Amino acid sequence: SKGDYRHFMLKEIHEQPAVIAAALEGRLGERSVLIESFGPDAESLFGEVRQIHLVACGTSYHAGMVARYWLERYAGVPVQVEVASEYRYRRVVVPEGTLLVTLSQSGETADTLAALRFAKGLGYLGSLAICNVPGSSLVRESDLTLMTQAGPEIGVASTKAFTSQLAALMLFTLALGRVRGAHADEQATLVEALRRLPHQVAEVLALDPAIEALSAAFAEKHHALFLGRGPHFPVALEGALKLKEISYIHAEAYPAGELKHGPLALVDGDMPVVAVAPNDALLDKLKSNLQEVRARGGELFVFADERVALEDGEGIRVLRLPHVEDALAPLLYTLPLQLLAYHVAVLKGTDVDQPRNLAKSVTVE
Ligand code: M6R
Repeated sequence: SKGDYRHFMLKEIHEQPAVIAAALEGRLGERSVLIESFGPDAESLFGEVRQIHLVACGTSYHAGMVARYWLERYAGVPVQVEVASEYRYRRVVVPEGTLLVTLSQSGETADTLAALRFAKGLGYLGSLAICNVPGSSLVRESDLTLMTQAGPEIGVASTKAFTSQLAALMLFTLALGRVRGAHADEQATLVEALRRLPHQVAEVLALDPAIEALSAAFAEKHHALFLGRGPHFPVALEGALKLKEISYIHAEAYPAGELKHGPLALVDGDMPVVAVAPNDALLDKLKSNLQEVRARGGELFVFADERVALEDGEGIRVLRLPHVEDALAPLLYTLPLQLLAYHVAVLKGTDVDQPRNLAKSVTVE
């Protein structure tokens, strides 16, 4: 049931602190991730991994895109990420030592399942499914599985399934890094940060009233642009997908550095631009991208770390998030974008949990 919540989506958004805690439960050691969480064969298999192919659809694909940055940065493994409906019809080249990772909330998405079956004859080391539904086809047919423990997700727009996938993908990154000799102190720092994560998720969700207050600026608009850099580019993609799915506002996401290569031509006073600005190494670059938007009269909405020197002003609204560990920022910066899409949809009076033309699980091609 929805309990006291008006929609399942809102309930599921607010379940995230508990869901993230469940995704981590029993999987963290003192200073590293417990590799056994991935099954008895994981340690030897992970030791052979030289490359990863990540395959998924929709929101799960965005989780995979975030994970690419993590796996390359913290486990030193090259990663290719692809939507399942493209992957399965391509002549895929599989270098020796490649692990296939599929991501799916339902474990029944037709294209993702077909991708796994297609991959069987291609010489992969094996397959890992990161999935939310025990006993689903994807889980049954994969060599290794990591369950995301998000519980049933009813809203068609995926929220808690995404953030629990990110938590699972960080566990996977650390497990793989550990087998491959990643720096022990770095591992310990990230494990500590993971332990604090459920609490930080709750802190960010407490910004809900401030985010709701921003939503009126979108309700009458027909288009919106989402910008991020690095692992926050896929976060921007996910924010744009949420907005289009439930509010029917056309939204696009770009890596901020691509702005002047085309999309800047769209920016005017009718184009709200949402930017994700954590306090990371790319911040100065992002700030100059924001200047480009301001100079064209674009209205900016910036989600920024509380330590970032950015002020509210003419045409720029800044919403501050608590300072967080860089590595986990993609998970935390997703939350305000979920809430923003939710409130805009409520203002527009759409069917939030059952958006038109969409099904929760796409079991046909
Ligand atoms: O069950 P899956 O994770 O395999 O589903 C994949 C997509 O169909 C799903 O994420 C879809 O994009 C959601 N409606 C997004 O909110």
